Amino acid sequence: MKTSEAVLPSTKPQPDVPWWRGAAIYQIYPRSFCDSNGDGIGDLPGITQRLEHVARLGVDAIWVSPFFKSPMRDFGYDVADYCDVDPIFGTLADFDAMVKRAHELGLKVTIDQVYAHTSDLHPWFEESRQDQLNDKADWYVWADPRPDGSPPSNWQSVFGGPAWTWDARRKQYYLHNFLSSQPQMNAHNPDVQDALLGVMRFWLDRGVDGFRLDALNFLMHDPTLRDNPPAPDDGRRKTRPFDYQLKIYNQSHPDILRFIQRVRELCDQYGAVFTVAEVGGDLAETEMKAFTAGEDHLNSAYGFDFLYADKLTPKFVEQAVAKWPDTPGIGWPSWAFENHDAPRALSRWCGLDDREAFARLKAMLFTSLRGNIIVYQGEELGLTQVEIPFEQLQDPEAIANWPLTLSRDGARTPMPWVVQSGEGGFTCGAPWLPLGEENLARAVDRQEADPSSLLNLTTRLLRLRRENDALRLGSFQVLHADECLLAIRRVSGEQSIAGLFNLSSVPVVWPQGLVRDGKELASVNGAIVGQLPPFGALLIEERI
Ligand code: NOJ
Repeated sequence: MKTSEAVLPSTKPQPDVPWWRGAAIYQIYPRSFCDSNGDGIGDLPGITQRLEHVARLGVDAIWVSPFFKSPMRDFGYDVADYCDVDPIFGTLADFDAMVKRAHELGLKVTIDQVYAHTSDLHPWFEESRQDQLNDKADWYVWADPRPDGSPPSNWQSVFGGPAWTWDARRKQYYLHNFLSSQPQMNAHNPDVQDALLGVMRFWLDRGVDGFRLDALNFLMHDPTLRDNPPAPDDGRRKTRPFDYQLKIYNQSHPDILRFIQRVRELCDQYGAVFTVAEVGGDLAETEMKAFTAGEDHLNSAYGFDFLYADKLTPKFVEQAVAKWPDTPGIGWPSWAFENHDAPRALSRWCGLDDREAFARLKAMLFTSLRGNIIVYQGEELGLTQVEIPFEQLQDPEAIANWPLTLSRDGARTPMPWVVQSGEGGFTCGAPWLPLGEENLARAVDRQEADPSSLLNLTTRLLRLRRENDALRLGSFQVLHADECLLAIRRVSGEQSIAGLFNLSSVPVVWPQGLVRDGKELASVNGAIVGQLPPFGALLIEERI
């Protein structure tokens, strides 16, 4: 399967269904995907070189995390120019070449857009901070101190510490919900909205097919700057001052919905453009539903259900999917088990000895979910969290919260491409983060050559999802969920597919009559009809 023709995805034509519905999307974290110039940091030409791997997997689209000009304090989520590529990653011409190659391979291209904040080095902020009268004076959230000089409200930042920083020039505080070098945009200002929509148009004109909208519920705050109330003690671990508040005023203003409608109006002018919001926090479910309601908001949203769960249990899956019933008016969910912010799932969800088996079960369950599924680079290889010593940590959040969290760096380590090559074929220089020895052994070339590898299994499962409407688009029903066994049914038209998953390390015999007889579509870890060994899972196309 080495030629371009052989990797072209085999989508069944679906005239009435937009390409993104039920799609599998592959997240690329550019710093860690592939380095083409030996500086130890992945780049856009590196992505282009390795796109065949992604197409061969059988996903529908890529989502590329930020590659825009940035001082990289938050590794690209602090944008200094929305319409240019950071020199570390290449040029706009490299971007165009990447889009062209992706499209040749049948992959849609979605990119990150970070609208809640910019970098403090963005020219908009540099102008805004000059004085209180300039043209962009109101483009960020500025406020006078309280009479005693303290910050205007009690708001705290996600990365720890107060959400306000004093600026000596304006003699005012500015708001930042993340790092102090990520000043909050004032999206209540129509000029700011127009500028952000101009950015979106810029990338649409360059041929992108969709957007992942970063931290969208942070886009607008309460303009009267009311204090957040304290959070009730719900037993959850509190590691930052942020955790002690109910975040109802620093974010989540209802006018975000109006901006979303403007986004939708613009995207609709360009055809089937996919929009998915990242929405975290205590109000995530309500906000995700509001952001995706009806036909004039976003297409989809994804939350943190699986990203930070300590354990994957049948009941947990049941509760998560139950939030998105197949009822008119309810939006279309997207799911991620892993991403560049959360610890690798295999390191969270199972013991060392079970990882190989669990990874197979996890792949089958993931590809059986209703909604879009977002595969994080390396998940198809079974990469695990790499332990990064404090001295080598790069991520500001990891450093601030060390040693309380499994760091974001540990999930951002470079992709291992070639087992026998120095640094796994990721770079010919010194990689910005270590690959981790265990992950090197899981390199792409080794798994490609092994028919029984996780990579080949994931490819088969993704293909199955593409080729079977029930898996890609069908309804989702939980037939059974106890401590060990999860049984589901996906139905579309005449097709019904049952999925049986033993999420435990003990064998499970499933109750007679739970699912109908039929054709076995896929089995992992020795599962057969009626019996699921530890972590066994089975997909059956039921006879109707
Ligand atoms: C969410 C992104 O995924 C994360 O990496 C980033 O640090 C924050 N938003 C702030 O932009």
